[in-house]
Amino acid sequence: MSEKQKDFIRIRGVSKLFGDFVAVDNVNLDIGRGELFSILGGSGCGKSTLLRIMAGFETPTAGTIEIDGVDITHLPPYERPVNMMFQSYAIFPHMTVEDNIAYGLRKDRVARPEVTARVDDVINLVKLGEFRKRKPEQLSGGQRQRVALARALIKRPKVLLLDEPLAALDKKLREHTQFELMAIQDQLGVTFIVVTHDQEEAMTLSSRIAVMEKGCFLQVGEPKEIYEYPTSRFVADFIGTINMFEGTVTQLGDETIIVNSAEAGTNLHALGDHAVEVGQHVCIAVRPEKIFISRDEPENADDIKVRGVVDDLGYFGNLSLYRVRLSSGKVIQVSSQNRQRSAKRFVEWEDEIWVSWRPRSAVVLRD
Ligand SMILES: Nc1ncnc2c1ncn2[C@@H]1O[C@H](COP(=O)(O)OP(=O)(O)OP(=O)(O)O)[C@@H](O)[C@H]1O
Ligand SMILES: [Mg+2]
Repeated sequence: MSEKQKDFIRIRGVSKLFGDFVAVDNVNLDIGRGELFSILGGSGCGKSTLLRIMAGFETPTAGTIEIDGVDITHLPPYERPVNMMFQSYAIFPHMTVEDNIAYGLRKDRVARPEVTARVDDVINLVKLGEFRKRKPEQLSGGQRQRVALARALIKRPKVLLLDEPLAALDKKLREHTQFELMAIQDQLGVTFIVVTHDQEEAMTLSSRIAVMEKGCFLQVGEPKEIYEYPTSRFVADFIGTINMFEGTVTQLGDETIIVNSAEAGTNLHALGDHAVEVGQHVCIAVRPEKIFISRDEPENADDIKVRGVVDDLGYFGNLSLYRVRLSSGKVIQVSSQNRQRSAKRFVEWEDEIWVSWRPRSAVVLRD
């Protein structure tokens, strides 16, 4: 994104109230040209409302939106350089694929040869050439989704808003379509804003993600940043799985924090420059894949080591998941890649084991 315009879309202080209910709460955000930006959050957190405000179907109670230097806050939907693919994508059941795709251009009275040329272009882009004469009912869910996408793209918007574009598809098809969507976006360079409540989808698709809760953006960043450096419990817990240990800060060094945690049954070290004080209540969070299981006591003196018992284990082909009960009674999750082929497990139910992790794998969360 280095040379691209980083504030192609500028959202400033946007709020939306329905009566006295705050659906969108003072959102500020810049989105770069050509980004594939995801808005991720649970049901009812305000995702669709924010998208509808950008599309012009909803007027914000406060705030402004600019696209490419133009304030569009008060423009009607059809005058915005934006197109929206709705949560339940509306395609006409009585029209063929190509008529569905051409509809917007015909409505705008675009000349016939141009309509034909542009329909051909997008139909090839979404790989629906062989289905062009079919009706929607003769298509699979994924193909219908591509018709909706083609319909949204044919008007060449600068920004395409997609509300839960893949929600209607089953898991395999959804994964496949995710990659198609990314390829198309990459090819066209159109800025995509995708709303989803599926965190894996957001992680796979996006250049950046905004995690939304109760109308607010809690954190905005690249997928890796959000996953590895969550700044709040909500984000840590919402994206992937994480083990959290409550505790109190007992010591602060240059780079180290020591937290006494009854839940862990030991002192937990973490690294990093955090704005915390001795005596403050914090939470140490560690992802399951950052934790190691061993039968013997781990040798590395710097690692955090805790004894536990295997409560449960699951084999998932590529990885194994363990639930480990610590001496404190707390149950944590550990995952490990099955690198070697073996029919025999190296630990079993009720085995007494050690869990360990590096201090730098731990995240310190304050709220
Ligand atoms: N026209 C409206 N009048 C009153 N309340 C509304 C209206 N539209 C949305 N809301 C409320 O605003 C909140 C946010 O709704 P929104 O549709 O943006 O949620 P969402 O994040 O898209 O959820 P989902 O994942 O379920 O689609 C909800 O609590 C909803 O009930
Ligand atoms: Mg919605």
